[in-house]
Parts: sequence; C-alpha cells; structure tokens
Amino acid sequence: MQSPVLVGIAGYGYWGPNLARNFQQLQSAALVAVCDPDEDRRCDLATNYPEAAAYAGFDEMLANERLDAVVIATPARSHHKLAKAGLLAGKHVLIEKPMATSADECRELIELAAAGKLVLMVGHTYLYSEAVRKLFEIIASGDLGEIRYINCQRLNFGLFQKDINVAWDLAPHDLSIILRVMGRMPTTVNCQGGAHVRAGVEAVTNVSLGFDEGAFATVQSSWLEPRKVRQMTFVGTRKMVVYDDLEPHGKLRIHDIRVDCPPRYNSFAEFQYSYHYGECRIPHLEQGEPLKRMCEHFVECVVHGREPETHGGHGLEVVRVLEACGESLSAGGGPVVPGMAG
Ligand SMILES: NC(=O)c1ccc[n+]([C@@H]2O[C@H](COP(=O)([O-])OP(=O)(O)OC[C@H]3O[C@@H](n4cnc5c(N)ncnc54)[C@H](O)[C@@H]3O)[C@@H](O)[C@H]2O)c1
Repeated sequence: MQSPVLVGIAGYGYWGPNLARNFQQLQSAALVAVCDPDEDRRCDLATNYPEAAAYAGFDEMLANERLDAVVIATPARSHHKLAKAGLLAGKHVLIEKPMATSADECRELIELAAAGKLVLMVGHTYLYSEAVRKLFEIIASGDLGEIRYINCQRLNFGLFQKDINVAWDLAPHDLSIILRVMGRMPTTVNCQGGAHVRAGVEAVTNVSLGFDEGAFATVQSSWLEPRKVRQMTFVGTRKMVVYDDLEPHGKLRIHDIRVDCPPRYNSFAEFQYSYHYGECRIPHLEQGEPLKRMCEHFVECVVHGREPETHGGHGLEVVRVLEACGESLSAGGGPVVPGMAG
C-alpha cells in the first residue's frame, strides 16, 4: 500500500479547518502539522487534531516536519512568500485562491515548481464541484450553442478583508469558471468599484470582460449586500443555463430559450423576432463536497506526478485578469488589456 502523503497546512483561520478536516479524512494523506501565529487558533487545532504538530511559524514547520506537501490557507498577501519557501524546500504546494497578488509572483512560483518537478495547484474549489463539472460537460456537448454572454453575481455581507478588495476575494471563483468555459483570455477588462467601508479597499466591484467574436461576461462581487447570492447565467446561441449554487436541488437549470432574428426581410414591417420558449431541464447531480474532491485531486497529483486541473498556469490567468481589474479601477473603469506575457 502507498504510504500517505504527509501534509502541513499554513493558516488555521476560517478556511484552514475545512482543509484540515478533508486532508485528515483522506486515506491517502495524513495531516501532520499546522502553523498559525495566532495562539487561539493553535489551541483550537490542538483540541480538534491533537496528533498534528502546531507551529507559530511556517519556517519552523518546514524545518521540523517531514512533509511531502504544504497547503497555504493564509491571507493573499502571504501566498507568494510561503509558497516560494515551500517549493524551495522541495515540497508540493496547494495555494488557496487567489494564487498570489501579482502575475509576476505567480510566474516565479510556476518556474520554481517546474524546476523542482513539484506539483503546484491553486484552490479554485468550484472547478471541483459537481455542478460546475456538469456545466462544463453540457457546454462541451454543444447543447447551448456558442456562448455569447455570462453574468455572475457573488454577493454577501462581509467578511471584509483588509489586504485585498472584493474582486480579489470573491471574483477568482467566477473568473476560474469563466476562463475555463471560454477557453481563452478576455481581450479587454473594465472594472468599477466603491470603497465604501475602508479607504482604498473596494467593497463592491463590477467587472466586464470582453472576448473576441463579441462574447461578453460581467462579474459583480460585493461584501455589502444583505442577501447571499451565488448565481451565474450562461447564454448560448441555442440554450441558456442558470447556475444557482445556493439551491439545494436544481443548482443547474437548462432553459431551452432563444431568440432568432429573421434570416431575410425587406421592410421594417416584415422584421419579426422569433422567440422560442421550450422546456426547462434540471440535470441530476451527484452529492459530494467539492473541497474533498479538490484535496483528493491534489494528493493524486502528488502521488502520480500529474499536473493538476487547476495548475499554476490557470491560477496565473485568473491573477492576470485581477491585475487588469486593478489597473482599470485606477483608470476610472476604462478598458485594460490583460498583461500579454504568458
Ligand atoms: N476556496 C474557497 O472557497 C475559499 C473560501 C474561503 C477562503 N479561501 C482562501 O483561504 C485563505 C484564508 O482565508 P481565511 O478566510 O481562512 O482567512 P482568515 O483570516 O480567517 O485566516 C487566515 C489565518 O492565517 C493565519 N496566518 C497569517 N499569516 C500567516 C503565516 N505567515 N503563516 C501561517 N499562518 C498565518 C492567520 O493567523 C489566520 O488564522 C485565503 O486565501 C482565502 O481567499 C478560500
């Protein structure tokens, strides 16, 4: 039997415990250490996982434990520094989203992982959800036709971050899905936002992505919304899909709806749109925690030396779009071409 992959987690705040639970439950992995400078968080760890070693510092954990892999679940500003230290120490690395706070930081991590033949994966958790996998399957089958427009809303009250704005916090989820569906980078990015709570940190952002051939996507992210909303609409030339992640049943609804223009007409009076209203289909989805699949996938990639679905290059593309959002915000919402270097 294969010996378990030994995992250490950096950051045991809100999200770290979810990662700890999932790695702990995997037969193929063992949670051996966690580090967090916050003493209360380490006490909580000791209560829940007494067998895991607790450290205040990342370097201390790296120096003292025989780890195969490290998982970075700290605030975004520390992702690059910790991931770099992990890769330089020869560890496989899973970084929570966003991969880092600049495209250059992402590129350095990708190079280090390649040089060390190490797995570098980004925690774009939604790409491991059954609903999103089914969505990709439906789109790949051609059932929707050509994707013309995507609209996303990810809204809730808080949790306010200090180091990154709401686009860097919430939009990576939407962007990771959009980029996979479109299979290409946007040609232009516009972003407007409002820093209504903390100066310089936008709590509300609206992002527009223009793609070649006229396709278009909008991403609305907010920490200032009384409702929790997690919705995406995919409009194709033949059908449309609404993905509502908060629906316990029927997360995906495929609407057989479209509008056709008349192929030929001679006068304005002859011009008639043809509205097609067909059925709405709700595909069956298997139950399962996306984070569990993500952790399993990471361990499989480490064991078999495979490239993860959400590899460093994918994380870099998301960060390139987020960087363009920052440039557009500074330019009052004007169009920005995302950085060209791969
Ligand atoms: N994939 C998802 O769906 C998802 C959901 C929530 C959060 N996240 C991501 O997880 C990460 C953490 O988010 P969070 O909400 O748990 O933040 P948090 O602020 O609640 O927790 C972060 C923890 O990291 C600790 N920390 C800070 N610097 C550290 C360092 N150098 N070494 C070790 N620990 C350190 C802090 O003390 C804190 O306990 C972020 O990147 C966030 O975007 C992902």
